[in-house]
Amino acid sequence: MHIKPLSALIGAEITGSNIENISESEFLLIEEAFTKYQVIFFRDQDKLSPEAHISFAKRFGELHYHPAAPRPEKHPEIFVIHAHKESKFADGNGWHSDVSCDIQPPLGSCLQLHVLPPIGGDTIFASMYSAFETLSPNMQKFLSNMTATHESEHLYRGRYAERGINDEGKVYPTAKHPVVRTHPKSGRQALYVNPSFTTKINELSLSESTSLLKFLYSHQQRPEFQVRFRWSQNAIALWDNRCTQHFALWDYWPNERKGNRVTIKGEQPFYNHTVAIESNLRLSQRHD
Ligand code: SIN
Repeated sequence: MHIKPLSALIGAEITGSNIENISESEFLLIEEAFTKYQVIFFRDQDKLSPEAHISFAKRFGELHYHPAAPRPEKHPEIFVIHAHKESKFADGNGWHSDVSCDIQPPLGSCLQLHVLPPIGGDTIFASMYSAFETLSPNMQKFLSNMTATHESEHLYRGRYAERGINDEGKVYPTAKHPVVRTHPKSGRQALYVNPSFTTKINELSLSESTSLLKFLYSHQQRPEFQVRFRWSQNAIALWDNRCTQHFALWDYWPNERKGNRVTIKGEQPFYNHTVAIESNLRLSQRHD
C-alpha cells in the first residue's frame, strides 16, 4: 500500500489497496491516513456492491441515514448521488460539510462514482483546520466562544420530489454547534460553519453575524486549503466531515454522473478549550 499526498495541506491518494479485501493492519494505516490527510482517494477499484460498500464504511463506525434523500428499500444506508439531463439540482453543488444540520452530523462520507461524464464533475475538498489555523490569534479566540445555527429546511424542502419523496408535514433538522470544533482523534481545531447549512452565529446580532459569516466563507475558500479530485470510474473518496468541506462541481450537464455514498455517524460536535490553538500566520499573511 502506498500513500501519496496530493497537496501540502489536504488530501492523499492510496494505491495498492483493494477496498473489498482489507486486512486489519491495512485498515489501521487507512484510518491513520484518513485522520492525517482529511480526505483520501482510492482508484483502480472494482464497482462495490451495496453490501461491500456498507461493510467498508462500517469499519469506521455506526452508519448515518440521510434525513431527506430517498433511501433504497434494500439498502437504506446508501445515498444515491445522481445528476442527469432532467435534474433540477445536483447534490453537493455548493460548499458544505455533510448534513451539519443534524445534532450528530456524519463523521465521514464514502463515495464511489460508477457513471462519469466525459469531462467535468470534479469534487473540491477544503481543509477547515487550515482555515482556522490561518486566522489571527484574536479572531481564533473570539470564534472559539461562539456557536452557530445550522438549518436544512431551505435546502431539503421539496428537493427530492422528482425522486418520489413527498415531504408534506416533515420537519427537517436544525442544530446548534460550536463555530470551532475540536477533532476527537487529531485534537486539532477546525472551523465549523458552512454556507449551505449555517444560518447564524448565535451570540451576535443578525447584521454582525451576516458580515462575519461572509468573511469566514470567503476565507475558507482560499485555494491553498484545497485539493481537487478528478474522478475516474469506480474511484472512491472518503472524507472527514469534521474538518473539511467539499463542493461537487455541476459543470457537466446534460451528461450523467452517478454513484453511491455511505455516511458514517459522528458524535455531537464539541469545542475543547484545553487543546492548544495552532496558528499558521505565515501562510495567512502571504497574501494579505
Ligand atoms: C456530496 O456528497 O456532497 C456529493 C459529492 C460528490 O458528488 O462529489
